[in-house]
Amino acid sequence: MITSTVIRQTYDRCSSFYDLFFKPWLEFGRRQAVDALMVQAGDTVLEIGVGTGLSFEFYPPDIRVVGFDYSHGMLQGSKEKAVTAAPCAVDLLQMDVQAMAFPEGSFDRVMAAYVLTVVPDIHRAIAEILRVARPGARVVLLNHLRSTNPLLSWIEDTFHPLFARIGLFTLDRDLLSILESFDLLDLQVEPTSWFGLHHVISFTVPGR
Ligand SMILES: C[S@@+](CC[C@H](N)C(=O)[O-])C[C@H]1O[C@@H](n2cnc3c(N)ncnc32)[C@H](O)[C@@H]1O
Repeated sequence: MITSTVIRQTYDRCSSFYDLFFKPWLEFGRRQAVDALMVQAGDTVLEIGVGTGLSFEFYPPDIRVVGFDYSHGMLQGSKEKAVTAAPCAVDLLQMDVQAMAFPEGSFDRVMAAYVLTVVPDIHRAIAEILRVARPGARVVLLNHLRSTNPLLSWIEDTFHPLFARIGLFTLDRDLLSILESFDLLDLQVEPTSWFGLHHVISFTVPGR
């Protein structure tokens, strides 16, 4: 299994040109994902794997966002956008989603855009999300889901080993089945841009 250290090094290297490739064509999904959070004034939102902070501009002003990423290089970008693009207060940290340093039940909303197909241990990451979110919190994941189209799934299978080996992302995870193996409430899936490959997946955290 690829390690978090390799993934972090890959994103450190990509950070200076990440926005050039990943801002324009993933923009629509980020806006849709923040809308799906249904934030309310005074909420504390956790954004996991904030990257260079491309979703900050979509948050409303009257909330607080706590964002973290494992890559120091990506965090440099988000530190800039926290000042230049975010309408709300943003606190940033370096952390691993598989072992978060927050106490149980700390957040009203949790968002992770294009992260769960990157981390090595997805089960541990989801368990951590369920721990740090308060019962009743809404969680929104923006992610690639495996295509049911034979041509597109052939392309995914062909390119998966390359992207996975360098630690950029995986294309073979059955994210929905993994989520269904957890005790989640009101699991919803909405397609977003790009041939229906990307989806906004949301659910409510059950009581403990
Ligand atoms: C595809 S990028 C998405 C960045 C951003 N959310 C966006 O929408 O552009 C994946 C991000 O997850 C971060 N990441 C990867 N593994 C992580 C981990 N174990 N803990 C926290 N962040 C991680 C990477 O550093 C990278 O910034």
